[in-house]
Amino acid sequence: MILTLQQIRHINNSDLVAIKNMVFCKQTVLETGKEMVMASTLIQWDDRKMSVNIEEIDKQHKALVGLINNLFDVVKAGRSNEIFEKLISDLIRYTEFHFLDEEKYFKQYNYPEAKAHMLQHKEFIDKISLFKKDFDSGKTGLTRKVLDFLRDWLVEHIMGTDKKYSKFFNDHGLR
Ligand SMILES: [Fe+2]
Ligand SMILES: [Fe+2]
Repeated sequence: MILTLQQIRHINNSDLVAIKNMVFCKQTVLETGKEMVMASTLIQWDDRKMSVNIEEIDKQHKALVGLINNLFDVVKAGRSNEIFEKLISDLIRYTEFHFLDEEKYFKQYNYPEAKAHMLQHKEFIDKISLFKKDFDSGKTGLTRKVLDFLRDWLVEHIMGTDKKYSKFFNDHGLR
């Protein structure tokens, strides 16, 4: 990381902790190799376990994984409060877009499990909107607990609920 003189002048204690963590993390990665690189990412995309066998939806799921990993990187760097608002807004917007896209196919092909699936989508949007509201009002920060919830929900939803439509949509020619 290269800082300009202007940035160095504005460095505070939390920045120093973040820089120290980044240097420590980099050293540990160098020492322990690939395994540490994997562990430094909150969600590791696994095509074998997570692909729903529909190219467009897989791309959207990978983008969601990327957005949650970005939030994790921000927390790791100790800068959560500054760009959390933008990142969580991006996550909510992209999640809404993705859910609407899946639901468009549910309607188009008359997917029999649409109702229960859409309810899960709604509950997730409600939950992350509440996180954002609490954050905006200063009630909470971006905690590891929130990140773990986002990771667990997304991975479980893709592998448990989304994958259920793979065969149905593939049979309708969607790949
Ligand atoms: Fe999905
Ligand atoms: Fe879904």
